[in-house]
Amino acid sequence: MAKRVMLTITVFAVFVQLAYSCCGPAQWEGYEGVSVGLKVNGTGEEGTGLLNMSVDANINKIVIRGYSLWNGQQQVKQHLLYDYSAAKSYSVYYGKCSIEDLAPYPGKVNCVPSDAKLVLSTYYGFGDNKYEIDIYEFMVDGKKMQMSFNKETCIPVGEHQQLANGFADISFMGITEGIKDPKVFDIPPECNRARSVSPRMQYIKKIGRF
Ligand SMILES: *[C@@H]1O[C@H](CO)[C@@H](O)[C@H](O)[C@H]1NC(C)=O
Ligand SMILES: *[C@@H]1O[C@H](CO)[C@@H](O)[C@H](O)[C@H]1NC(C)=O
Repeated sequence: MAKRVMLTITVFAVFVQLAYSCCGPAQWEGYEGVSVGLKVNGTGEEGTGLLNMSVDANINKIVIRGYSLWNGQQQVKQHLLYDYSAAKSYSVYYGKCSIEDLAPYPGKVNCVPSDAKLVLSTYYGFGDNKYEIDIYEFMVDGKKMQMSFNKETCIPVGEHQQLANGFADISFMGITEGIKDPKVFDIPPECNRARSVSPRMQYIKKIGRF
């Protein structure tokens, strides 16, 4: 009987360990470099951007702000707030807000999802200057994500999303722990006004949480 209880505890402990095998700091900020290619109405569109990003696992929110450049000419201001506690996303493009239901994130927003599949363990750099990464594959809201994390800190390094009409590649840089200004997670002011979104932006919005 005692043996059986112990086995149960051991199995449970292993399960807990797997469920949060890799978590970064609860709060962090940094930049994300984005490169997107989309096919819209038979025409290729490409977007690039360097955006500010803040993540707070204590309140389950992610915010991404900055500018992206479309087809090398059209600069678009964007402000995306993902509130996983309220299951709502707020997306502002061209000063126009759209509020939508948000599917739950598979796990905590600062962790590798528990059901993520490790596809490759490797490193950047060379010799003594190695930067070790683990590449995982998992689903977010029915979309397949491939994401690499630093092995020691579990901070994201890169991400690839295959979309129905294109792809998105993202790299994460300049990450620091903590949140300088909690107001960064406020609902975008544009979202308190009347809303409508151009059809083109509907496509861009379909890109996952980043
Ligand atoms: C992004 O962060 C930098 C550095 O903190 C800041 O100067 C800039 O205003 C921010 N941009 C946006 C769009 O919030
Ligand atoms: C695609 O083309 C149709 C017909 O011209 C137009 O109504 C629609 O708004 C276009 N969609 C986008 C995303 O540009």
